[in-house]
Amino acid sequence: MNSNSKKQDLLQLVNKNLQERIPPKSGVGKELLEAMHYAVMGGGKRIRPIFTLAACESAGTNILSAMDAACAIEMIHAYSLIHDDLPAMDDDDIRHGQASTHVVFGEAQAILAGDALQSLAFQLISESNQLTDPVKVSIVLLLSRAIGYSGMAGGQSMDIKTEQLKISDSDLKLLHQAKTGALIKASIEIGGLASEKIKPSSQEFKVLSTFGSSVGLAFQIVDDLIDVTSTSKELGKPANSDRKNQKQTFVDILGLENSKKLSNDLIEEAIALLDTTHLRGELLKSLALDCINRTR
Ligand code: IPE
Ligand code: IPE
Ligand code: MG
Ligand code: MG
Ligand code: MG
Repeated sequence: MNSNSKKQDLLQLVNKNLQERIPPKSGVGKELLEAMHYAVMGGGKRIRPIFTLAACESAGTNILSAMDAACAIEMIHAYSLIHDDLPAMDDDDIRHGQASTHVVFGEAQAILAGDALQSLAFQLISESNQLTDPVKVSIVLLLSRAIGYSGMAGGQSMDIKTEQLKISDSDLKLLHQAKTGALIKASIEIGGLASEKIKPSSQEFKVLSTFGSSVGLAFQIVDDLIDVTSTSKELGKPANSDRKNQKQTFVDILGLENSKKLSNDLIEEAIALLDTTHLRGELLKSLALDCINRTR
């Protein structure tokens, strides 16, 4: 099977598994559950969960062992997007080509849907039948660190605090690594751990971490690029959102060409690193290339 049809199959599989893991839209919190379904099932590339499955497979384990973890990570991502679009944050009304969650359900329900998706993610990992208890604990630790004060939430805080300010390229790199890089890196590390073959202290884990770190940074640099080079229709979210909010972006600091070069170099290094191991990294490499060769 070629890698494009494999990725297409994985996308369908992730969508099916996400659908099965969101509680039915009934009973207590019906409105909340509707908002959660809307945000999670509304679309998206599913790059993080597919990275998780690919990292698990790279260790020689069936991807299905990582499915609960993969779905948990996509729920965290969906939560981050709901909050990111709120008027108090980026104030964007379109996401995945449809009205943002707060536009449809109101801000209060949207905030709560984000909160509930975050806790559902940890619930899915904790109650998984696919993972052993020690691996669950390692995954919960990694994921909580990746999205907390020193990861996604910290990065989002810095992103908002630095609107309209000039920051150095090294600070912007830290910001991007925290707000976006940390969850992408964790999605790859967690796939490795879910294989039950890669230990956190192993050389393979270090390679997956470094690979994930480069991919995560490159991903946000490209997100900054496509914010100005793609249309809202292509993106499924408003183009030029960063300019509207006077965000600090790599495009402002390095320019289009150098930002493109930086993201390409990061992915080239990441791919070369994978080649130094016995990991079966074909899918990981193909996904890494997708992160830079994209218009949405
Ligand atoms: C968008 O992520 C938010 C960032 C962290 C840059 P994605 O590009 O992965 O969002 P989807 O694919 O639309 O869900
Ligand atoms: C979002 O970065 C990072 C998150 C943690 C959600 P952006 O604000 O650039 O993401 P988009 O462009 O709205 O998807
Ligand atoms: Mg933002
Ligand atoms: Mg945004
Ligand atoms: Mg953006």
